[in-house]
Amino acid sequence: MGLEEAKALIKGWVCHEGAGRDRLLPLLHALQDEIGYIDDALVPAIAAALNLSRADVHGVLTFYHDYRRQPAGRHIVKLCRAESCQSRGGAAIEAAASARWGVAMGETRRDGQVTLEPVYCLGLCAIGPNALVDGRPVARIDAAALDRIAAEIAA
Ligand code: FES
Repeated sequence: MGLEEAKALIKGWVCHEGAGRDRLLPLLHALQDEIGYIDDALVPAIAAALNLSRADVHGVLTFYHDYRRQPAGRHIVKLCRAESCQSRGGAAIEAAASARWGVAMGETRRDGQVTLEPVYCLGLCAIGPNALVDGRPVARIDAAALDRIAAEIAA
C-alpha cells in the first residue's frame, strides 16, 4: 500500500471510529492489521487526524514492541524474553536462533524470509522456553525445536 493510500485509510478510519487520544491505539492496530507495519512517514497524518502532536504518536509507536515500523519477513518468530523462559535457557535459545538464521533480534533477514522478535510472556511459563511461530505457540524450545522451526520457515 502506498503512502497516499495509507493516508486515505487513516482519514476513513477516523471518520468512522472518531478522533482523540483514546483512538490512537486502535488506529495503530488497524493500520498494522491492514498494512503490516506503520511507516514513520505516516506519523504526521496520524497526529493530524487524531488532533495529537507528532511526538505523542511517535512516543506511543516506539514504546510498544508490538507495533512494527518496517515490513515483516514472510515468517515471524517471536521468542519469549520474560522471566520464566529466561530462567529456562531463553537467552541461549535466542542466541542460537539468531546465529542459525542470520538475523538479530528485532530485525528481518535481508532475504525477507524471517523476522525475529521478542515477546514478553505467552502464558505458557511452565513449559518454556517458548516461541510464537507465525502466531502458533511452540513450547519447550530446544535445538531440535529450532531445527523443526527452521525447516518450516525454509518451506
Ligand atoms: S515467561 Fe515465557 S511464556 Fe511466560
